[in-house]
Amino acid sequence: MSSDLILRRLAIEDEQQVLAAIDEFEADGSHWSYRYRPDLPWADYVELVHGWEDGINLPDGFVEHAELVAVVDGDIVGRTSVRFVLNEFLRTIGGHIGYAVRPAFRRRGYATEILRQSLDIARARGISPVLVTCDVDNIGSRRVIEANRGVLEGIFDAEPGLPQKRRYWIS
Ligand SMILES: CC(C)(COP(=O)(O)OP(=O)(O)OC[C@H]1O[C@@H](n2cnc3c(N)ncnc32)[C@H](O)[C@@H]1OP(=O)(O)O)[C@@H](O)C(=O)NCCC(=O)NCCS
Repeated sequence: MSSDLILRRLAIEDEQQVLAAIDEFEADGSHWSYRYRPDLPWADYVELVHGWEDGINLPDGFVEHAELVAVVDGDIVGRTSVRFVLNEFLRTIGGHIGYAVRPAFRRRGYATEILRQSLDIARARGISPVLVTCDVDNIGSRRVIEANRGVLEGIFDAEPGLPQKRRYWIS
């Protein structure tokens, strides 16, 4: 059940599941979206990700954000990024929150619950309204945002050659 889903920080014991998730997303041509650093020992990578919440050692162009895994009964089913501020890219394209669900766990309401809990985290940081975007052809993500009471601002061009974005605000 989606109500059993928890969001939490990346942990040492997550290595095998996260590596599997990275492979799954690459296999279908998308990205799990962590800035994974295969050059680092896993424990150092976990520490690096935790530091991003406080703006420590951020990758170029990134803002302070929480990278969290979504867990159901010990399985990592998905992930979310909750960005605490917007830069130009996030303001126009990326938004405050980005999420993904592993292919084997889709269509169970998990993304809807991940966004719901991510919104709580953003609000606890004083962020309101929250900007969430999706590609115009991403029907699943559109439903996730609308189920979380996203109010459509409009449809905007993204980067050249990529689908337009639907931009939603959630208060
Ligand atoms: C989009 C994504 C997050 C949806 O995750 P999910 O856990 O399957 O979503 P949910 O189960 O919460 O589904 C929410 C709704 O969307 C519908 N839905 C999900 N995927 C769908 C799809 N591919 N086509 C049509 N409807 C879809 C569900 O049936 C559900 O509908 P309902 O509200 O009528 O019940 C997931 O497919 C994914 O991770 N995709 C790749 C990454 C991505 O696109 N992230 C979002 C970036 S904005």
